[in-house]
Amino acid sequence: MMGPSRLKSALVAFLVAVGSLLPANADEHEHTYTDKEEVVLWMNTVGPYHNRQETYKYFSLPFCVGNKKTISHYHETLGEALQGVELEFSGLDIKFKDEVMQTTYCEIELDKNKRDAFVYAIKNHYWYQMYIDDLPIWGIVGEADENGEDHFLWTYKKLEIGFNGNRIVDVNLTSEGKVRLVPNTKIAMSYSVKWKKSDVKFEDRFDKYLDPSFFQHRIHWFSIFNSFMMVIFLVGLVSMILMRTLRKDYARYSKEEEMDDMDRDLGDEYGWKQVHGDVFRPSSHPLIFSSLIGSGCQIFSVSLIVIIVAMVEDLYTERGSMLSTAIFVYAATSPVNGYFGGSLYAKQGGRRWIKQMFIGAFMIPAMVCGTAFFINFIAIYYHASRAIPFGTMVAVCCICFFVILPLNLVGTILGRNLSGQPNFPCRVNAVPRPIPEKKWFMEPAVIVCLGGILPFGSIFIEMYFIFTSFWAYKIYYVYGFMMLVLVILCIVTVCSPSQWTSFLSAASTAVYVYMYSFYYYFFKTKMYGLFQTSFYFGYMAVFSTALGIMCEKKQEEPKLEECVVGERATVRPSACCTAECGNRPLRMAHTTT
Ligand SMILES: *[C@@H]1O[C@H](CO)[C@@H](O)[C@H](O)[C@H]1NC(C)=O
Repeated sequence: MMGPSRLKSALVAFLVAVGSLLPANADEHEHTYTDKEEVVLWMNTVGPYHNRQETYKYFSLPFCVGNKKTISHYHETLGEALQGVELEFSGLDIKFKDEVMQTTYCEIELDKNKRDAFVYAIKNHYWYQMYIDDLPIWGIVGEADENGEDHFLWTYKKLEIGFNGNRIVDVNLTSEGKVRLVPNTKIAMSYSVKWKKSDVKFEDRFDKYLDPSFFQHRIHWFSIFNSFMMVIFLVGLVSMILMRTLRKDYARYSKEEEMDDMDRDLGDEYGWKQVHGDVFRPSSHPLIFSSLIGSGCQIFSVSLIVIIVAMVEDLYTERGSMLSTAIFVYAATSPVNGYFGGSLYAKQGGRRWIKQMFIGAFMIPAMVCGTAFFINFIAIYYHASRAIPFGTMVAVCCICFFVILPLNLVGTILGRNLSGQPNFPCRVNAVPRPIPEKKWFMEPAVIVCLGGILPFGSIFIEMYFIFTSFWAYKIYYVYGFMMLVLVILCIVTVCSPSQWTSFLSAASTAVYVYMYSFYYYFFKTKMYGLFQTSFYFGYMAVFSTALGIMCEKKQEEPKLEECVVGERATVRPSACCTAECGNRPLRMAHTTT
């Protein structure tokens, strides 16, 4: 039995989940200070420089805390909790525009264990991260000498804070005071604060973290230009082939118009008209197929909306806000999933629509949560701050069941009722048309491989920039580029050969992206260790799969290949298509004598 207290705590968890999706109302949210007002230095995480996602709480290293203890733990948003943000008060006494000369704030009594912990961290190039007024600050833990025998700890944090009016606009940290780590000694940790007037505008204070010479490099512009050229070429090619085929067909059709009715009925259908009998054939696994299509539509709309939001608001300035936004948009666009998945399933004559809705709604969340769950085990084993807290897991589950599922239900019902009728303009042939003999480059395997190359080719440079911002220390901010690439990807996907292999083409795009991530891992990063490696490959798999699902498209589009081949068919279609003969009664071929 679920007691009232359990019910209440579930309710509270749900409210927290919904509340944490909204922007955090942090303590320093106003970002304005009066003179001598307290400025909080938050300690975040510490971890190896090369493994960006392998982070631990700052105080998991035996650092000591200053003696000011008025602020408890920071209230995290959902996005922050999922990204392993662990803000803890440093205990340092900092007041706005109040200079502090070098002051010792605590002492570390270095026993053997503590020394070993520091030595391990120094050997692995550990960095720590702090925040002042939401501005990130990085510092290095220590240094080894050349032969790697002696290890030194930086003990003096020299903070220089720039202010503009009543706002903080700039922070610099200099580490000084190298002290050798000798067991059974005391190490004094000290800090100083200097305040400087600065002309940096508050709106521009994150600009120094961006790297325009990397992100707006000529290569980047060139790659976008390149992809655009490819798109123009592709669209041109496709329309040329279509036009040529259609014109040839039309010429034959109009010649036949001159024959009498009798002769015409005896003839086969040929050219692009052959397509109509098969285009709208239900796929062989309607349930999975329509769920995939629904999820694909949802991922596409989520990407579109999140990129637009990111372009309008500088999301990178707030910790975890990108992830929070993405989760919120994902939940809010669930009806899209339900609508497209549900209506396609109904059109294909599926009856188990509740099952379809569940599969459609939980396909992506299950994939992401499954990966996260697996990585969470490793994170807990390593005591990494990436381990997702239990409360956050409950919150995510609540969102899945109480937000995503109902919204999906609404979408499904709408989809089934508004566009669930199989009102295709053509009737589907009883016998699937055998696809005519093909040249080698028309073999499905080849098409699948080539079909994936074009979308991949149009995005892989952008992929490099996105990966670098996620796996290295760069902030991605050129969302305009990302938008362009999404549009290009969309056009390329629509133009590339779309027939029954289209689904596998999309899958092959995912495979290419995943292969590229292997290349990136081995040649572009220096990650190591079980945790970071499984984190990397786990989430890259999720990313590639999601991208693949996004690229797949409905099979209802005209099957270009059959148009192009355009040979006389071996099986006669028994139905008519609208344009030329739609009002004529349907009749079987070869019934007249
Ligand atoms: C921080 O360092 C940069 C680069 O050295 C300098 O331009 C800036 O004025 C410094 N800011 C403060 C507040 O000292």
